[in-house]
Amino acid sequence: MRRCLLLLGVAAALCACGQRDVFNHASDATPHQRELERAFAICAGCHDTRADLGHRVGPNLHGVIGRRAGTAPGYAYSEAMRDSGIVWDARTLDAFLAWPQKQVPGTRMPNATSDPQRRRAVIEYLSAPPR
Ligand code: HEC
Repeated sequence: MRRCLLLLGVAAALCACGQRDVFNHASDATPHQRELERAFAICAGCHDTRADLGHRVGPNLHGVIGRRAGTAPGYAYSEAMRDSGIVWDARTLDAFLAWPQKQVPGTRMPNATSDPQRRRAVIEYLSAPPR
């Protein structure tokens, strides 16, 4: 019985630790998320990521990871983007953001992001955008 209680105690302690860990993680994540948002600021003039906000100059990027290029409903893509055959993942996004015209010759997306760290942050942001 004592052994049993001891085990329960250990389990409770582990549980409490686990919870605190999650809590700490969440409070750490807030500045990190803000950093990712800042990285995305260079995209936000042309792209929204909240599903309910629709398209801007560029298509809405909600759920873009895993999506086929040029397929967000209701956005008038260039033929180049529609016919690119790309599926967006970390690798294809990185190549596109580094040099849009090379990855998708004829795309209407004008700006390249030369800083690899910024591309990484933007891709992480797109992997889990708000809502
Ligand atoms: C000046 C406006 C502008 C900026 C800034 C911009 N984009 Fe774009 N983006 C576009 C346009 C326009 C398209 C559509 C391109 C086409 O149809 O060829 C596009 C397309 C895309 C696509 C393809 C989406 C799909 O549905 O296939 C992705 C991904 C993308 N942009 C990501 C980004 C990211 C990330 C940034 C910031 C680093 C960024 N864009 C900055 C205008 C912009």
